[in-house]
Amino acid sequence: MDMISPKAIDPAKLDAFLARAVGDLSAGYGGVMVSLGNRLGLYKAMAGAGPLSSRDIARRAGCAERYVREWLGSQVAGGYVAYHASSSTYELTPEQAFVLADEDSPVFIPNAWAVPASMWFDEDKAVEAFRSGSGVAWGDHNGRLYCGVAGFYRNAYRASLVSEWLPALDGVVEKLEAGARVADIGCGHGHSTVLMAQAFPASQFHGFDTHPESIAAAQRIAADAGVRNATFAIGRADGHSGKAYDLICFFDCLHDMGDPQAAAKHAAEVMARDGTVMLVEPFANDRVEDNISPVARLYYAASTTLCCAHAISEGGRTVLGAQAGEARLADVFRKAGFRHFRRAVATPFNLVLEARL
Ligand SMILES: C[S@@+](CC[C@H](N)C(=O)[O-])C[C@H]1O[C@@H](n2cnc3c(N)ncnc32)[C@H](O)[C@@H]1O
Repeated sequence: MDMISPKAIDPAKLDAFLARAVGDLSAGYGGVMVSLGNRLGLYKAMAGAGPLSSRDIARRAGCAERYVREWLGSQVAGGYVAYHASSSTYELTPEQAFVLADEDSPVFIPNAWAVPASMWFDEDKAVEAFRSGSGVAWGDHNGRLYCGVAGFYRNAYRASLVSEWLPALDGVVEKLEAGARVADIGCGHGHSTVLMAQAFPASQFHGFDTHPESIAAAQRIAADAGVRNATFAIGRADGHSGKAYDLICFFDCLHDMGDPQAAAKHAAEVMARDGTVMLVEPFANDRVEDNISPVARLYYAASTTLCCAHAISEGGRTVLGAQAGEARLADVFRKAGFRHFRRAVATPFNLVLEARL
């Protein structure tokens, strides 16, 4: 590194940037506290209960009071819990409870902290991959990754998949109501498959993924939900079984693949002539300079050590990354023989795209 002259430093800019870096560091520590609060049932013990002492909270959650009191200090300092100084009590507001305690809420955040936890755990693998250029397969990561990703995306699927995303596709809901064949490629834990299967009992759903543990988890989750019209099998996007699908879905997985064009081409081959591909990808604009936001930062980071690493492990013919943007995705489908490609919906976290032959 070349020497930095003290004269080159603008003190105001230094202070502003340092404040930002310390804020980020603090958030990283806070993430560990959120995960603990979730795993120990501390947020749930507080939700809807009004002001409570640290002793009450500890008793409700079955934890040691001294630890709970210190944890509460961290929550108050970070704005995650309200503190009433006059009564030395702590309260989870309804809004905080919606984000931190209610697992069925569309904005439940704590599970998502399992993703950076796994990324820290696998940092040595990332260092080696940067130096060698080799890949890291999805299944070679720390186990916290899979529930973290499933938990993160499940929120959006619960909130929007059946009510907004499917209706935004041309004629798809009518087919699903009448009875359609659907493939969910790269289904992971299958939350998307299960939600669709529950909403459209006349249709048959088939989830495929290359990661055996995820397929086993999807089978368990579907069985626990009492879903009978969904099957799950190990299968690659460019070679999975079945044909004449009316709908083929890719939820947050196309950009993870080493050859997304081959996956799109296989979709073209195994879908009905009037079938539809629903491509759900992380929200991104087409240019780096237009992807400057907390959401883009999160996605670029996950993309670096997870998405690009997996695509490279699969041969890396085209490594899209999680911030590919609509133009690059459209190009993949055009080259695979699709003539129609359009944006159906965009949310702060997702692009929902429709491709047809
Ligand atoms: C980020 S996860 C998304 C999982 C799930 N669709 C969701 O939205 O929660 C990406 C998934 O794609 C799967 N995957 C990666 N490459 C694949 C391929 N070539 N064929 C099928 N699945 C693949 C991974 O195993 C992983 O489960």
